[in-house]
Amino acid sequence: MLRIGSVQLETPLLLAPIAGYCDLAFRLVVRRLRGPTGLGVGLACTDLLCPQAILSENQKSLWLAATCPEDKPVCMQLYGADPAILAEAARWAQAHGATTIDINMGCPVDKVTKKNGGSKLLCDPGSTVLLAKQVVEAVTVPVTAKLRLGWDDQHIVAPDLAPALADVGIAAITIHGRTTEQMFRPSARLEGIARVVESMRRHPLVPVIGNGDVKSPQDAKRMMDVTGCAGVMIGRGALAQPWIFRDTAHYLATGELPEPLSRAEKARVVLGHFESLLHYRGERIAVNMINQRISWYSPHLQPWPGLRQSVRTIRSAAEFRDFMGHGIARLEEFDAGGGTSEPEQAEAGTSAPEAA
Ligand SMILES: Cc1cc2nc3c(=O)[nH]c(=O)nc-3n(C[C@H](O)[C@H](O)[C@H](O)COP(=O)(O)O)c2cc1C
Repeated sequence: MLRIGSVQLETPLLLAPIAGYCDLAFRLVVRRLRGPTGLGVGLACTDLLCPQAILSENQKSLWLAATCPEDKPVCMQLYGADPAILAEAARWAQAHGATTIDINMGCPVDKVTKKNGGSKLLCDPGSTVLLAKQVVEAVTVPVTAKLRLGWDDQHIVAPDLAPALADVGIAAITIHGRTTEQMFRPSARLEGIARVVESMRRHPLVPVIGNGDVKSPQDAKRMMDVTGCAGVMIGRGALAQPWIFRDTAHYLATGELPEPLSRAEKARVVLGHFESLLHYRGERIAVNMINQRISWYSPHLQPWPGLRQSVRTIRSAAEFRDFMGHGIARLEEFDAGGGTSEPEQAEAGTSAPEAA
């Protein structure tokens, strides 16, 4: 089973940091989804955190770093290039509940790379190793690094950088199988991940976690089988299907897919996400955020004609609860065999799921 330094994970499945998406409210949704074996996500990560902002206790950053006892084990991800500030931010993260701390070495976004952070760290491996060493020495919790393969195909540095990071105490390497130049296309390269796994043979206690394009339990197993990686990190696949960890953990443990969640159960997950947002962010933000997130969920709730359009017209918690409650009731009715074949049209701008 996957171990990151002193931290034993329940499963080798990690929720990726996705800026703007993997906040506390969503991490709790993911954590609560467990399969028949009781297994689910092994470790969940915060979005990338700006060290200066958390050290000055900027309100938005405090929310991004927020955690709670149920949100464990949690990784807090930091970005930047200044070793002293990163080390201080790592101490802050440990004091504020981080189980592990990750250094972002993969973000391709200009805002981050222009300040020499994120995947720009791949362009100067020597300084990056020194930076990692300083962060490792600042804290007692395990420190990990999340890399891309390199800046571009002419500079594939991960197979050399990963073992050098392990030499200075980095406790796990996550490798997204693309270069910075590739951004998110074409597909993640399994052979690139395999090369990093191979390069880490002299560090058998430092796991390599593969990342990129895992959208199903079978994808996760394939990544582990083909590359030899010890775990899998899932990002976008989890935004659309937070139950992917539940399904994948069961699949890895038993070789079989669990009974899938019904559409009504999936709709309950969406409602649960909304309640979690409401609890932590308040009504205005919760309504706005669920409005964005419904596009990710929608394909998994179909057929439900007009779902996205209807959610866009919703302005209050009471309206959303009403809308989903009505939809869930219709789906349950259908699951129980009592549904009609006609999609029920609800009032003013809302529509119920079609009884398919
Ligand atoms: C909108 C968006 C935001 C992201 N934010 C972060 C981030 O904050 N930190 C990070 O290390 N990676 C970030 N990533 C990269 C993901 O963690 C992951 O490496 C990438 O999406 C590939 O995995 P996936 O195919 O499972 O999504 C982001 C990706 C997306 C699409």
